[in-house]
Amino acid sequence: MHRLLQRQIRRFLGEDAEQTPELAAFLSSVDEAYNSADAEHLMIERSLCLMSKELTEANAVLRNELAERQRTELALKKEKEEQRYLIGQLEEAQSHLLQSEKMASIGQLAAGVAHEINNPIGYVYSNLAMLEKYVHDSFAMLDQYELAEGVITDVDVRTHLKNTRDRLDIAFIKQDLSALMTESKEGITRVKTIVQNLKDFSHVDILDEWQLVNLHSGIESTLNIVNNEIKYKAEVVREYGDLPFVECLSSQINQVFMNLLVNAAHAIEERGTISIRTGQQGDEVWVEIADTGSGIAPEHLKKIFDPFFTTKPIGKGTGLGLSLSYGIIQKHHGRIDVNSIVGKGTTFRVWLPIRQGVALHEPDYEI
Ligand SMILES: Nc1ncnc2c1ncn2[C@@H]1O[C@H](COP(=O)(O)OP(=O)(O)OP(=O)(O)O)[C@@H](O)[C@H]1O
Ligand SMILES: [Mg+2]
Repeated sequence: MHRLLQRQIRRFLGEDAEQTPELAAFLSSVDEAYNSADAEHLMIERSLCLMSKELTEANAVLRNELAERQRTELALKKEKEEQRYLIGQLEEAQSHLLQSEKMASIGQLAAGVAHEINNPIGYVYSNLAMLEKYVHDSFAMLDQYELAEGVITDVDVRTHLKNTRDRLDIAFIKQDLSALMTESKEGITRVKTIVQNLKDFSHVDILDEWQLVNLHSGIESTLNIVNNEIKYKAEVVREYGDLPFVECLSSQINQVFMNLLVNAAHAIEERGTISIRTGQQGDEVWVEIADTGSGIAPEHLKKIFDPFFTTKPIGKGTGLGLSLSYGIIQKHHGRIDVNSIVGKGTTFRVWLPIRQGVALHEPDYEI
Protein backbone atom coordinates (compact mmCIF):
# COMPACT_ATOMS: atom_id res chain seq x y z
CA MET A 1 0.00 0.00 0.00
CA HIS A 2 1.13 3.58 -0.70
CA ARG A 3 2.99 5.05 2.26
CA LEU A 4 0.84 8.19 2.35
CA LEU A 5 -2.40 6.12 2.44
CA GLN A 6 -0.98 3.92 5.20
CA ARG A 7 -0.23 7.04 7.28
CA GLN A 8 -3.71 8.47 6.67
CA ILE A 9 -5.44 5.16 7.65
CA ARG A 10 -3.35 5.11 10.83
CA ARG A 11 -4.28 8.71 11.60
CA PHE A 12 -8.02 8.57 10.85
CA LEU A 13 -8.95 4.91 11.57
CA GLY A 14 -6.37 3.95 14.19
CA GLU A 15 -3.78 1.19 14.25
CA ASP A 16 -6.11 -1.80 14.56
CA ALA A 17 -9.27 -0.53 12.81
CA GLU A 18 -11.43 -3.09 11.24
CA GLN A 19 -12.03 -2.78 7.56
CA THR A 20 -15.34 -3.62 5.99
CA PRO A 21 -15.18 -5.11 2.46
CA GLU A 22 -16.53 -1.79 1.11
CA LEU A 23 -13.83 0.23 2.90
CA ALA A 24 -11.13 -2.24 1.74
CA ALA A 25 -12.33 -1.85 -1.90
CA PHE A 26 -12.40 1.93 -1.49
CA LEU A 27 -8.89 1.99 0.02
CA SER A 28 -7.57 -0.27 -2.75
CA SER A 29 -8.89 2.11 -5.46
CA VAL A 30 -7.41 5.13 -3.55
CA ASP A 31 -4.11 3.22 -3.29
CA GLU A 32 -4.18 2.64 -7.05
CA ALA A 33 -4.86 6.37 -7.65
CA TYR A 34 -1.94 7.36 -5.35
CA ASN A 35 0.43 4.97 -7.12
CA SER A 36 -0.55 6.13 -10.63
CA ALA A 37 -0.17 9.82 -9.52
CA ASP A 38 3.28 8.97 -8.23
CA ALA A 39 4.21 7.25 -11.49
CA GLU A 40 3.03 10.31 -13.51
CA HIS A 41 4.99 12.63 -11.23
CA LEU A 42 8.12 10.57 -11.72
CA MET A 43 7.66 10.62 -15.46
CA ILE A 44 7.27 14.43 -15.49
CA GLU A 45 10.32 14.79 -13.31
CA ARG A 46 12.35 12.58 -15.62
CA SER A 47 11.26 14.41 -18.76
CA LEU A 48 11.96 17.77 -17.06
CA CYS A 49 15.41 16.50 -16.17
CA LEU A 50 15.93 15.39 -19.75
CA MET A 51 14.75 18.74 -21.11
CA SER A 52 17.02 20.65 -18.76
CA LYS A 53 19.98 18.51 -19.87
CA GLU A 54 19.13 19.18 -23.52
CA LEU A 55 18.78 22.89 -22.80
CA THR A 56 22.18 22.98 -21.07
CA GLU A 57 23.72 21.26 -24.08
CA ALA A 58 22.03 23.66 -26.51
CA ASN A 59 23.23 26.56 -24.38
CA ALA A 60 26.81 25.30 -24.52
CA VAL A 61 26.58 24.96 -28.31
CA LEU A 62 25.21 28.50 -28.55
CA ARG A 63 27.97 29.82 -26.31
CA ASN A 64 30.56 28.11 -28.50
CA GLU A 65 28.97 29.50 -31.63
CA LEU A 66 28.99 33.00 -30.12
CA ALA A 67 32.65 32.72 -29.20
CA GLU A 68 33.42 31.47 -32.72
CA ARG A 69 31.49 34.37 -34.24
CA GLN A 70 33.35 36.86 -32.03
CA ARG A 71 36.65 35.31 -33.11
CA THR A 72 35.62 35.55 -36.78
CA GLU A 73 34.52 39.14 -36.29
CA LEU A 74 37.85 39.99 -34.70
CA ALA A 75 39.75 38.28 -37.52
CA LEU A 76 37.63 40.15 -40.07
CA LYS A 77 38.31 43.45 -38.31
CA LYS A 78 42.04 42.70 -38.31
CA GLU A 79 41.90 41.73 -41.97
CA LYS A 80 40.04 44.95 -42.76
CA GLU A 81 42.70 46.98 -40.97
CA GLU A 82 45.44 45.13 -42.85
CA GLN A 83 43.61 45.77 -46.09
CA ARG A 84 43.27 49.47 -45.27
CA TYR A 85 47.00 49.64 -44.52
CA LEU A 86 47.75 47.77 -47.74
CA ILE A 87 45.50 50.09 -49.75
CA GLY A 88 47.31 53.06 -48.20
CA GLN A 89 50.65 51.56 -49.18
CA LEU A 90 49.38 50.81 -52.68
CA GLU A 91 48.11 54.37 -53.05
CA GLU A 92 51.47 55.70 -51.94
CA ALA A 93 53.30 53.37 -54.31
CA GLN A 94 50.98 54.39 -57.13
CA SER A 95 51.54 58.07 -56.52
CA HIS A 96 55.31 57.46 -56.44
CA LEU A 97 55.05 55.48 -59.63
CA LEU A 98 52.98 58.19 -61.28
CA GLN A 99 55.48 60.80 -60.14
CA SER A 100 58.44 58.83 -61.47
CA GLU A 101 56.63 58.08 -64.73
CA LYS A 102 55.90 61.76 -65.09
CA MET A 103 59.55 62.47 -64.34
CA ALA A 104 60.72 59.95 -66.90
CA SER A 105 58.56 61.32 -69.71
CA ILE A 106 59.31 64.92 -68.85
CA GLY A 107 62.97 63.93 -68.60
CA GLN A 108 62.91 62.59 -72.15
CA LEU A 109 61.13 65.68 -73.40
CA ALA A 110 63.55 67.92 -71.52
CA ALA A 111 66.54 66.04 -72.88
CA GLY A 112 65.21 66.44 -76.45
CA VAL A 113 64.43 70.12 -76.03
CA ALA A 114 67.76 70.79 -74.33
CA HIS A 115 69.61 69.01 -77.10
CA GLU A 116 67.79 70.94 -79.85
CA ILE A 117 68.23 74.33 -78.20
CA ASN A 118 71.75 73.80 -77.01
CA ASN A 119 73.50 74.17 -80.37
CA PRO A 120 71.79 77.33 -81.69
CA ILE A 121 72.12 78.93 -78.26
CA GLY A 122 75.81 78.04 -78.29
CA TYR A 123 76.57 79.80 -81.56
CA VAL A 124 74.24 82.76 -80.85
CA TYR A 125 76.09 83.20 -77.55
CA SER A 126 79.56 83.15 -79.13
CA ASN A 127 78.42 85.20 -82.15
CA LEU A 128 77.07 87.82 -79.79
CA ALA A 129 80.49 88.19 -78.20
CA MET A 130 82.08 88.54 -81.68
CA LEU A 131 79.35 90.98 -82.75
CA GLU A 132 80.06 93.15 -79.73
CA LYS A 133 83.72 93.22 -80.63
CA TYR A 134 83.00 94.04 -84.31
CA VAL A 135 80.59 96.82 -83.33
CA HIS A 136 83.18 98.30 -80.97
CA ASP A 137 85.78 98.16 -83.72
CA SER A 138 83.39 99.76 -86.22
CA PHE A 139 82.61 102.57 -83.82
CA ALA A 140 86.29 103.08 -83.16
CA MET A 141 86.72 103.44 -86.92
CA LEU A 142 83.73 105.84 -87.07
CA ASP A 143 85.37 107.94 -84.32
CA GLN A 144 88.48 108.16 -86.49
CA TYR A 145 86.39 109.25 -89.49
CA GLU A 146 84.70 111.86 -87.32
CA LEU A 147 88.07 113.23 -86.25
CA ALA A 148 89.15 113.34 -89.89
CA GLU A 149 86.06 115.35 -90.85
CA GLY A 150 87.77 118.56 -89.73
CA VAL A 151 90.31 118.33 -92.50
CA ILE A 152 87.76 117.83 -95.29
CA THR A 153 87.73 121.10 -97.25
CA ASP A 154 84.74 120.32 -99.45
CA VAL A 155 81.76 122.00 -97.73
CA ASP A 156 79.19 119.82 -99.50
CA VAL A 157 80.86 116.62 -98.39
CA ARG A 158 81.17 117.92 -94.80
CA THR A 159 77.49 118.98 -94.70
CA HIS A 160 76.42 115.66 -96.18
CA LEU A 161 78.40 113.76 -93.58
CA LYS A 162 76.94 115.82 -90.71
CA ASN A 163 73.36 115.48 -92.01
CA THR A 164 73.73 111.74 -92.36
CA ARG A 165 75.18 111.51 -88.86
CA ASP A 166 72.27 113.53 -87.41
CA ARG A 167 69.67 111.62 -89.41
CA LEU A 168 70.97 108.25 -88.25
CA ASP A 169 71.41 109.58 -84.70
CA ILE A 170 74.81 107.93 -84.43
CA ALA A 171 75.38 109.41 -80.95
CA PHE A 172 72.24 107.69 -79.64
CA ILE A 173 73.07 104.41 -81.40
CA LYS A 174 76.53 104.45 -79.77
CA GLN A 175 74.98 105.02 -76.36
CA ASP A 176 72.09 102.54 -76.77
CA LEU A 177 74.16 99.80 -78.35
CA SER A 178 76.02 98.85 -75.23
CA ALA A 179 72.75 98.57 -73.20
CA LEU A 180 71.32 96.52 -76.06
CA MET A 181 74.28 94.17 -76.09
CA THR A 182 74.17 93.78 -72.28
CA GLU A 183 70.45 92.95 -72.37
CA SER A 184 70.90 90.46 -75.20
CA LYS A 185 73.74 88.76 -73.37
CA GLU A 186 71.64 88.58 -70.20
CA GLY A 187 68.79 87.05 -72.15
CA ILE A 188 71.00 84.46 -73.78
CA THR A 189 72.62 83.64 -70.42
CA ARG A 190 69.15 83.07 -68.99
CA VAL A 191 68.25 80.72 -71.82
CA LYS A 192 71.58 78.92 -71.30
CA THR A 193 70.75 78.46 -67.61
CA ILE A 194 67.35 77.06 -68.48
CA VAL A 195 68.90 74.64 -70.97
CA GLN A 196 71.42 73.62 -68.32
CA ASN A 197 68.57 73.06 -65.87
CA LEU A 198 66.77 70.92 -68.42
CA LYS A 199 69.94 68.93 -68.97
CA ASP A 200 70.45 68.49 -65.24
CA PHE A 201 66.85 67.50 -64.94
CA SER A 202 67.21 64.77 -67.54
CA HIS A 203 70.68 63.87 -66.23
CA VAL A 204 72.03 63.80 -69.78
CA ASP A 205 75.50 65.11 -69.14
CA ILE A 206 76.10 64.26 -65.53
CA LEU A 207 79.37 62.51 -64.86
CA ASP A 208 79.07 62.35 -61.14
CA GLU A 209 80.57 59.69 -58.92
CA TRP A 210 79.18 57.99 -55.85
CA GLN A 211 81.29 59.11 -52.93
CA LEU A 212 81.23 59.16 -49.15
CA VAL A 213 80.39 62.78 -48.51
CA ASN A 214 80.37 65.13 -45.56
CA LEU A 215 76.94 66.70 -46.04
CA HIS A 216 77.71 69.61 -43.70
CA SER A 217 80.54 70.81 -45.94
CA GLY A 218 78.23 70.38 -48.94
CA ILE A 219 75.65 72.60 -47.25
CA GLU A 220 78.31 75.19 -46.36
CA SER A 221 79.71 75.40 -49.89
CA THR A 222 76.19 75.68 -51.28
CA LEU A 223 75.45 78.46 -48.79
CA ASN A 224 78.50 80.31 -50.13
CA ILE A 225 77.20 80.07 -53.67
CA VAL A 226 73.68 81.27 -52.84
CA ASN A 227 74.82 83.80 -50.28
CA ASN A 228 73.73 86.69 -52.50
CA GLU A 229 70.17 85.39 -52.74
CA ILE A 230 69.91 84.82 -49.01
CA LYS A 231 71.85 87.50 -47.17
CA TYR A 232 69.34 90.32 -47.67
CA LYS A 233 66.38 88.10 -46.83
CA ALA A 234 67.24 85.84 -43.97
CA GLU A 235 69.42 84.97 -41.07
CA VAL A 236 70.73 81.43 -41.44
CA VAL A 237 70.58 79.34 -38.27
CA ARG A 238 72.52 76.09 -38.23
CA GLU A 239 71.38 73.29 -35.95
CA TYR A 240 73.66 70.51 -37.10
CA GLY A 241 73.56 67.09 -35.51
CA ASP A 242 76.21 64.38 -35.79
CA LEU A 243 76.28 63.01 -39.30
CA PRO A 244 78.25 60.10 -40.69
CA PHE A 245 79.68 60.30 -44.19
CA VAL A 246 76.88 59.62 -46.63
CA GLU A 247 77.19 57.80 -49.92
CA CYS A 248 75.89 60.13 -52.60
CA LEU A 249 76.48 62.06 -55.80
CA SER A 250 77.73 65.19 -54.11
CA SER A 251 77.17 67.77 -56.83
CA GLN A 252 73.60 66.58 -57.30
CA ILE A 253 72.87 66.59 -53.60
CA ASN A 254 74.30 70.11 -53.39
CA GLN A 255 71.98 71.09 -56.20
CA VAL A 256 69.06 69.89 -54.05
CA PHE A 257 70.27 71.98 -51.10
CA MET A 258 70.66 74.95 -53.42
CA ASN A 259 67.11 74.64 -54.77
CA LEU A 260 65.66 74.33 -51.27
CA LEU A 261 67.70 77.25 -49.93
CA VAL A 262 66.84 79.54 -52.84
CA ASN A 263 63.15 78.60 -52.58
CA ALA A 264 63.27 79.35 -48.85
CA ALA A 265 64.81 82.77 -49.50
CA HIS A 266 62.25 83.51 -52.22
CA ALA A 267 59.39 82.61 -49.86
CA ILE A 268 60.48 85.27 -47.38
CA GLU A 269 58.95 88.63 -48.19
CA GLU A 270 61.02 91.04 -46.10
CA ARG A 271 63.23 89.41 -43.53
CA GLY A 272 63.10 86.04 -41.83
CA THR A 273 65.00 82.99 -40.72
CA ILE A 274 66.21 79.93 -42.56
CA SER A 275 67.04 77.08 -40.21
CA ILE A 276 69.18 74.20 -41.39
CA ARG A 277 68.93 71.12 -39.20
CA THR A 278 70.53 67.73 -39.63
CA GLY A 279 70.37 64.41 -37.87
CA GLN A 280 70.61 60.66 -38.10
CA GLN A 281 67.93 58.07 -37.49
CA GLY A 282 68.82 54.40 -37.84
CA ASP A 283 70.57 53.88 -41.16
CA GLU A 284 69.24 57.13 -42.62
CA VAL A 285 70.26 60.77 -42.28
CA TRP A 286 68.03 63.81 -42.72
CA VAL A 287 68.61 67.42 -43.66
CA GLU A 288 65.90 69.92 -42.92
CA ILE A 289 65.60 73.39 -44.44
CA ALA A 290 62.92 75.44 -42.72
CA ASP A 291 61.90 78.99 -43.53
CA THR A 292 59.63 81.56 -41.93
CA GLY A 293 58.25 82.51 -45.32
CA SER A 294 54.84 82.65 -46.96
CA GLY A 295 54.09 78.92 -46.76
CA ILE A 296 52.48 76.83 -49.49
CA ALA A 297 48.74 76.87 -50.16
CA PRO A 298 47.20 73.40 -49.56
CA GLU A 299 45.97 73.21 -53.17
CA HIS A 300 49.55 73.77 -54.40
CA LEU A 301 51.18 71.20 -52.10
CA LYS A 302 50.40 68.29 -54.44
CA LYS A 303 51.85 70.10 -57.44
CA ILE A 304 55.11 71.56 -56.19
CA PHE A 305 57.15 68.57 -57.39
CA ASP A 306 55.58 68.69 -60.85
CA PRO A 307 57.95 69.94 -63.54
CA PHE A 308 57.26 73.52 -64.60
CA PHE A 309 54.92 74.20 -61.68
CA THR A 310 55.73 77.65 -60.37
CA THR A 311 53.90 80.43 -58.60
CA LYS A 312 56.66 82.87 -59.40
CA PRO A 313 56.30 85.58 -62.06
CA ILE A 314 57.41 84.87 -65.62
CA GLY A 315 61.18 85.07 -65.89
CA LYS A 316 61.70 84.45 -62.18
CA GLY A 317 61.06 80.75 -61.83
CA THR A 318 61.06 77.86 -64.26
CA GLY A 319 59.33 75.48 -61.87
CA LEU A 320 62.06 72.90 -62.33
CA GLY A 321 63.88 73.25 -58.99
CA LEU A 322 61.78 70.86 -56.92
CA SER A 323 61.09 68.34 -59.67
CA LEU A 324 64.81 68.18 -60.31
CA SER A 325 65.44 67.71 -56.59
CA TYR A 326 62.77 65.02 -56.37
CA GLY A 327 64.44 63.07 -59.18
CA ILE A 328 67.85 63.35 -57.55
CA ILE A 329 66.60 62.18 -54.14
CA GLN A 330 64.73 59.29 -55.76
CA LYS A 331 67.93 58.25 -57.48
CA HIS A 332 69.53 58.17 -54.01
CA HIS A 333 66.67 55.99 -52.69
CA GLY A 334 65.69 58.75 -50.30
CA ARG A 335 62.58 60.86 -49.92
CA ILE A 336 61.49 64.46 -49.34
CA ASP A 337 58.87 65.42 -46.76
CA VAL A 338 57.16 68.80 -46.77
CA ASN A 339 55.36 70.57 -43.99
CA SER A 340 53.90 73.96 -44.60
CA ILE A 341 51.61 76.41 -42.86
CA VAL A 342 50.39 79.36 -44.90
CA GLY A 343 51.68 82.58 -43.36
CA LYS A 344 54.07 80.75 -41.02
CA GLY A 345 56.59 78.95 -43.18
CA THR A 346 57.69 75.75 -44.80
CA THR A 347 59.95 72.89 -43.81
CA PHE A 348 61.48 70.53 -46.34
CA ARG A 349 63.12 67.40 -44.91
CA VAL A 350 65.37 65.33 -47.14
CA TRP A 351 65.97 61.72 -46.04
CA LEU A 352 68.94 59.81 -47.42
CA PRO A 353 70.14 56.30 -46.73
CA ILE A 354 73.70 56.34 -45.40
CA ARG A 355 74.66 53.57 -47.83
CA GLN A 356 73.32 52.64 -51.23
CA GLY A 357 72.99 48.91 -50.57
CA VAL A 358 76.57 47.83 -51.29
CA ALA A 359 78.77 48.18 -48.22
CA LEU A 360 81.82 50.39 -48.54
CA HIS A 361 84.33 50.74 -45.73
CA GLU A 362 83.20 51.66 -42.23
CA PRO A 363 82.17 55.31 -41.98
CA ASP A 364 84.24 57.85 -40.08
CA TYR A 365 82.17 60.07 -37.90
CA GLU A 366 82.49 63.84 -37.90
CA ILE A 367 83.09 65.69 -34.70
N1 LIG B 1 60.05 77.19 -49.23
C1 LIG B 1 58.97 77.46 -49.97
N2 LIG B 1 58.02 78.29 -49.50
C2 LIG B 1 56.92 78.57 -50.22
N3 LIG B 1 56.67 78.06 -51.45
C3 LIG B 1 57.58 77.22 -51.98
C4 LIG B 1 58.77 76.88 -51.27
N4 LIG B 1 59.46 76.01 -52.04
C5 LIG B 1 58.74 75.84 -53.18
N5 LIG B 1 57.62 76.57 -53.15
C6 LIG B 1 56.57 76.61 -54.18
O1 LIG B 1 56.79 75.56 -55.11
C7 LIG B 1 56.91 76.08 -56.42
C8 LIG B 1 57.84 75.21 -57.23
O2 LIG B 1 59.17 75.33 -56.74
P1 LIG B 1 60.38 75.01 -57.70
O3 LIG B 1 61.63 75.19 -56.95
O4 LIG B 1 60.12 73.69 -58.36
O5 LIG B 1 60.22 76.09 -58.84
P2 LIG B 1 60.50 77.66 -58.73
O6 LIG B 1 61.24 78.00 -57.50
O7 LIG B 1 59.18 78.33 -58.94
O8 LIG B 1 61.40 77.88 -60.00
P3 LIG B 1 62.96 77.43 -60.17
O9 LIG B 1 63.36 76.73 -58.94
O10 LIG B 1 62.93 76.52 -61.36
O11 LIG B 1 63.65 78.69 -60.43
C9 LIG B 1 57.36 77.52 -56.23
O12 LIG B 1 57.01 78.33 -57.32
C10 LIG B 1 56.61 77.91 -54.96
O13 LIG B 1 55.28 78.24 -55.26
MG1 LIG C 1 63.00 76.89 -56.97
